Amino acid sequence: MTKRVAILISGGGSNMLALLRDMGMGGHPARPVLVASNDPAAAGLAKAAAQGVPVAAVDHRPFKGDRTAFEAALLAPLLAAEPDILCLAGFMRVLTPDFVNRFAGRMLNIHPSLLPKYPGLHTHQRALDAGDAQAGCTVHEVTPVLDDGPILGQARVPVLEGDTADTLAARVLVQEHRLYPAVLRRFAAGDRTPVLL
Ligand code: GAR
Repeated sequence: MTKRVAILISGGGSNMLALLRDMGMGGHPARPVLVASNDPAAAGLAKAAAQGVPVAAVDHRPFKGDRTAFEAALLAPLLAAEPDILCLAGFMRVLTPDFVNRFAGRMLNIHPSLLPKYPGLHTHQRALDAGDAQAGCTVHEVTPVLDDGPILGQARVPVLEGDTADTLAARVLVQEHRLYPAVLRRFAAGDRTPVLL
């Protein structure tokens, strides 16, 4: 039986599309059952729908900071889709421990830094400010601590002379699109050995 995968996005969804593309290849151990967003205007929703994947939007703004109520609303379409695996792909809301624990051991996230360096925001600028020679991205299992949890894969890129946060982000994003599908493929097959690119 292939694993059922739901994906949460907040924006353009390029990582989500990379996951859909890979799951569309023959012999993949998983298939997409839902793409959901906290932003009804997220460009990724239309892209997922165009691929024939069911989509849902639960706007977080009317909940005005009541994370529990927002998450209860988000859970409705999610649980209805009965995912085995939940992938965060550019999902920019912090999730409560209750929500995370519900998907313990089966929720993945991609983060644009070489964790444990630079959890949180502005990762590329922080790598530049620190004078790092390398930057990259990490796919990890989600635990209640933000951008923590067992590392399932990392991809590295060199920091080049003259890099800005934007040029570095673009170089890392190319690797994100390789890394996340490779990790999901392995994870869905029951293998948690880290993917190192
Ligand atoms: C990606 O770079 C992802 O790593 C990052 O947001 C971008 C989403 O792009 N995620 C985070 O910063 C999570 N804290 P996408 O919508 O094109 O996949």
